[in-house]
Amino acid sequence: MAMSVNIAIDGPAGAGKSTIAKKLAKELGFVYVDTGAMYRAMAYYFLQNGIETSDEPAVAAACPNVDVTIAYVDGEQQVLLNGENVNGVIRTEEVGNAASVTSAYPAVRQKLVELQRQLAARLDVVMDGRDIGTCILPHAQVKIYLTASVETRARRRYDELVKKGEACELDAIAKDIEERDYRDMHREIAPLAQAEDAVLVDSSMLTIDEVAAAIREIYERTIG
Ligand code: DC
Repeated sequence: MAMSVNIAIDGPAGAGKSTIAKKLAKELGFVYVDTGAMYRAMAYYFLQNGIETSDEPAVAAACPNVDVTIAYVDGEQQVLLNGENVNGVIRTEEVGNAASVTSAYPAVRQKLVELQRQLAARLDVVMDGRDIGTCILPHAQVKIYLTASVETRARRRYDELVKKGEACELDAIAKDIEERDYRDMHREIAPLAQAEDAVLVDSSMLTIDEVAAAIREIYERTIG
């Protein structure tokens, strides 16, 4: 049986993982799997149901009521929370921060590990997240750790928000990013880290096309 090809892209928030992963998947004809969206869907459930995200026992107790699955429409991943498509409501800072907090809990991670592994076993995927190369897919053929300086990531986020017409402050965004990095890197289970066999790509001084080309080259060198 032919084995599926797995490309794992990990890194901190705002490094450009999803943009790059999406582009790469499209070029290679692979399926893009956004695991952050799954954690966001769970966080959205907790927020919607008035569950205090800092209350681990309460979050764990609610986990059996949460079902996250994904579907693909025109090649775009749709996250279904208890059967309902939540793609349109999970991209806020509030949900992102809540996901960063609740993803540290074992009960939350356990809900998603199998779903992610099954997708990668069945399909050629570009999967992005925090623990893909280190924990979810330790045998991924290609592993990338994509990062960028805090200043660069804050500036990109700021420009995005300004373009959307949202009021924001560069300093506050940078502080938010630093806090999220710290939480994601210092939790006990599956913390964000560069896998030993991952290739480090720093996107601070690179355009999207340059990052995509660099990763494409790593892929071709490895898979040929
Ligand atoms: O990539 P993102 O911003 O959509 O992720 C939101 C949060 O979800 C992130 O701060 C930490 C968590 N997450 C995780 O713990 N493991 C993953 N594989 C992906 C995301």
